[in-house]
Amino acid sequence: CFYCMCSICVRCYSVLLACVVFVLDVAVFHYSSQSKVLLHFVNQNGMKTSVTGTEGESLLDVVVKKNVQIDGFGACEGTLSCSTCHLIFEDSMYDRMETMADDEMDMLDLAYGLTKTSRLGCQVTLQPWMDGMTVRVPQEVKDQRDVQETKSKQ
Ligand code: FES
Repeated sequence: CFYCMCSICVRCYSVLLACVVFVLDVAVFHYSSQSKVLLHFVNQNGMKTSVTGTEGESLLDVVVKKNVQIDGFGACEGTLSCSTCHLIFEDSMYDRMETMADDEMDMLDLAYGLTKTSRLGCQVTLQPWMDGMTVRVPQEVKDQRDVQETKSKQ
């Protein structure tokens, strides 16, 4: 072994086993200590879908993992270049959220149907206090990459 130059000694095997057990313990504790957060998505057609996400996941992660049916949602996969993850939040939830970064604000400015409680779903991470939150998808969504491409061709 790399530790004592034997092929695999009992001592190294026990150390290795203890390390594996420790890592698994930490992983299980970390996973189980994260809160589940119930979310309600209302899509463009008014259809409501309720799903559960995990604290720390983005709303984009939840939509993808739970296969929530929202046309074209998250086209750039969270790279802040499309604004298709535009969501509208309840006032009380919006007021409690962290301040928006400049990059998000810039992309959100280009989004269609912007409201005073709009955010980009790829930038909002779930917090325990969001449990039971309802988010609405705006009526119209355009992929900013397509809009920019059209402008550059003109
Ligand atoms: S997924 Fe493209 S900006 Fe959020």
